[in-house]
Amino acid sequence: MKRVIFHPESRFKILWDLFILLATIAVTVQAPLMIVFDLVSTGWLLVFDIVITLVFIADIIISFNTGFIVKRQLVTDRKLIAKEYLKFWFWPDLLATLPLFALSGTNFLLLNRLFRFFRLSRLLKLFTGARTIRKAKELNLNPSIMRMTMMVFWLLLASHLIACGFVFINGVDPTLPNNMRYLQALYWTITTLSTIGYGDITPDRGNPVQLIFTLITQLIGVGTYGFIIGNISTLIANIDVAKTQYREKMEKINTFIKHRSIPGPLQRRINDYYDYLWESRRGYDESQVLKDLPVSLKTQVSLYLNKEIIEKVPLFKGASPSFIKELIMNMQPVVFTPGDYIVTKGEIGDDMYFINTGTVDVVSEDESLIYATLTAGQFFGEIALLLSMPRTATIKARDYCDLYSLEKETFDRILIRYPAFAKSIEELAEKRRAEMVSSTEKQKKAQARGAVDAEPMGELDTEGTPARVTGLKAESIKGSSILLSWDREEESKTYTLLRKSGTGNESWEVVATGLSECTATDRNPPAGKVLLYRVRGENEKGAGPWSDAVTVSE
Ligand code: CMP
Repeated sequence: MKRVIFHPESRFKILWDLFILLATIAVTVQAPLMIVFDLVSTGWLLVFDIVITLVFIADIIISFNTGFIVKRQLVTDRKLIAKEYLKFWFWPDLLATLPLFALSGTNFLLLNRLFRFFRLSRLLKLFTGARTIRKAKELNLNPSIMRMTMMVFWLLLASHLIACGFVFINGVDPTLPNNMRYLQALYWTITTLSTIGYGDITPDRGNPVQLIFTLITQLIGVGTYGFIIGNISTLIANIDVAKTQYREKMEKINTFIKHRSIPGPLQRRINDYYDYLWESRRGYDESQVLKDLPVSLKTQVSLYLNKEIIEKVPLFKGASPSFIKELIMNMQPVVFTPGDYIVTKGEIGDDMYFINTGTVDVVSEDESLIYATLTAGQFFGEIALLLSMPRTATIKARDYCDLYSLEKETFDRILIRYPAFAKSIEELAEKRRAEMVSSTEKQKKAQARGAVDAEPMGELDTEGTPARVTGLKAESIKGSSILLSWDREEESKTYTLLRKSGTGNESWEVVATGLSECTATDRNPPAGKVLLYRVRGENEKGAGPWSDAVTVSE
């Protein structure tokens, strides 16, 4: 039968080590008590001793069958494992396991008082216990909380041992029952260690052993007290490093606010903003954290951190991993506070934005008209980048908005590399422009009728506006003219025809407008360029979206 080798970090091994740690704590408490109160191993105490011996034997066997890790490599070779174990850890384990307690009952050569001390060999298992605790530190636990727990643990253990020592040297009245002797000794230990020293239980001043024991305990007390007091404030401050740093930052900002007498409402906005940063990302600036990572790890972490936005944006669904990667690596997180103007109509645009959380309103310049309200997963600011034109609307944050911005340069590069993305974003931009034109026209008409208030804010009534024109064809005819024709669109009364010369960032020019027929001739197309055409229908309710762009067929 093939014997298994346990992985040192397997669930079983971790639980087993924990169990051994508990058993060790139990014997560390039990062994000194047995010695100082001269207890003999019978009845339950004997059962306890036997069980502990068996458990410790099992631990040695398991240790011989557990691999170890050197330089991140797992070693499973039995010979190497044994060699490694025998180097050190085996020996304290062995001494702790030997049933030396069995000797303590015997009166062999009147040495039984000495044999009693052999029982303390059990405490050697604390070496293994300390190793387990060190391993626990590697787990994902807060290091400061771990250190504080450890400090308390060792202190309690030391107090127990010192109290047992004090009982042993008859520091407390030996005529009292055992439990009272222990309690009084523990009381003395804690008051002496903590340097409180009430002086109600004191060593016999005529007994040098008791005096020296007390002196040593006092010295340990002074050392540990100073150490604990010195450490505790840093430990508490370090429990949550992020929170401490954040608090320090807030203090600095508040001093600045007071120094520069920033007005109350602005102060509140600043504080609100930092509160939001704390709630949403614990005050961390992701890009700062990622900065130090190697590229491959940075990509993976970025993809993980941004998976939410990738899932939210419908445009990214089913997109190729390389496209997503390129986008994610180039997006910058930005936060806007309620009421902020993210984009202002008429400005030159350098970025487009994807909404991760929050809501924004797309409004007209004077904010009298809400064209649309965009929420998580939607994007804006693409029109100015696509058509190299000023912003077509103003975008205002309704609440706190976590956005990702994409620079024009990256956007243009991505458009060229991923035509499918380019097509869908162009279509949406076209639709949005059409919607905006139609709502503006509607508003103008309503204003003319003196019924501005009748306009439902934010709701776009698209019923009755023309649909997208289909079947657009462009053919070269005699001379250099181009003949254009398209299918009739039910709702359209007139049509507008656009032309673009070139496939880059050139802007679209109007060739003809107000056309009532589904055909037109472009008599002066620029020579030597690739020509693209688009058409849309209009009626009194507004304009439809632009048709797909077509090139000239020979
Ligand atoms: P851009 O013109 O760069 O800046 C303003 C943005 O508002 C614009 O890009 C679009 O992304 C967005 N936008 C304009 N009109 C609408 C609309 N009707 N619906 C949704 N978004 C719009």
